[in-house]
Amino acid sequence: KKRVVSGVQPTGSIHLGNYLGAIKNWVALQNVYETLFFIVDLHAITLPYDTQQLSKATRSTAAIYLACGVDPSKASVFVQSHVRAHVELMWLLSSTTPIGWLNKMIQFKEKSRKAGDEEVGVALLTYPVLMASDILLYQSDFVPVGEDQKQHLELTRDLAERVNNLYGGRKWKKLRGRGGTIFKVPEPLIPPAGARIMSLTDGLSKMSKSAPSDQSRINILDPKDLIANKIKRCKTDSFPSLEFDNSERPECNNLLSIYQLVSGKTKEEVVQEIQNMNWGTFKTILTDALIDHLHPIQVRYEEIMSDSGYLDEVLAQGARNAAEIADTTLDNVYQAMGFFRRQ
Ligand code: TYM
Repeated sequence: KKRVVSGVQPTGSIHLGNYLGAIKNWVALQNVYETLFFIVDLHAITLPYDTQQLSKATRSTAAIYLACGVDPSKASVFVQSHVRAHVELMWLLSSTTPIGWLNKMIQFKEKSRKAGDEEVGVALLTYPVLMASDILLYQSDFVPVGEDQKQHLELTRDLAERVNNLYGGRKWKKLRGRGGTIFKVPEPLIPPAGARIMSLTDGLSKMSKSAPSDQSRINILDPKDLIANKIKRCKTDSFPSLEFDNSERPECNNLLSIYQLVSGKTKEEVVQEIQNMNWGTFKTILTDALIDHLHPIQVRYEEIMSDSGYLDEVLAQGARNAAEIADTTLDNVYQAMGFFRRQ
């Protein structure tokens, strides 16, 4: 079976972008592939964060995975920091990562620009190396992510090839008997729709956990009234009718896409439905579709959170499954890189 891995940071609240760009697609993949989904808590400390919240947010994010339909009897669900190999492989990989590759990362440039040099931790720069470790440890075939992670995936692929070339030569092949590479080179899986959900207050910037205004996003756990209020107040335009794919109307395209994805309709069906519809009527059907889609997730979330033993059990089992695969890869990398291993 081909293998799929992915994860979300436990920072702020999980929003519709994380759901439509990533988590919702994981649910379909778990039926076809061997899947591992982690909560990337080690990534959440690359910017100043609240130590009082990290642990809670990690559990909550895990519960959201399950509430959205990730099934622990099919997928391994675990917390990144519970599998030590992630950090260990990161050190080994960082010796081989050119600093220039990291300096080019758009997310690093954006995030570091906002803070000053004294404020930016080294981990913000080296973050993509940890992400590469998350993926390469599991010899993953596919990584389902939103559009904004594409560059990090490219770096992961480049790094895998670099390590394979540098350390995967004849000595490694002999060691392994029948050859093979050190790392599988993974491919991103970016969904055709939903890969870039935009802010509710500005159709040109993506929906994000770190945007200061909560009005700019729908969080998975937002109560009904809040969803209704956010849609009521979201940015629209003054065109009389509604349409997809008009670059002058980014808000319109975004809201229609969200409607399409949460209603489960095809684009053609939506086009039919919104013919002759005005903004007011559309906002009503969008609000209803969002609430209908998110309400069952919220009910399941509460159930999962009320049984902490269950969640802990799922995460413990997930970490055991993951560590078994990760430790094998890590050991191979140490050997390929020429380390003396404990006998
Ligand atoms: P994070 O936590 O920022 O986002 C989690 C997932 O949500 C997607 N996403 C979006 N998709 C569509 N529209 C949006 N507005 C939107 N915002 C976020 C992201 O693309 C991502 O798939 N570095 C990663 C987490 C990570 C990871 C990994 C992912 C760490 N290691 C290994 C895959 C494999 C991140 O910060 O995602």
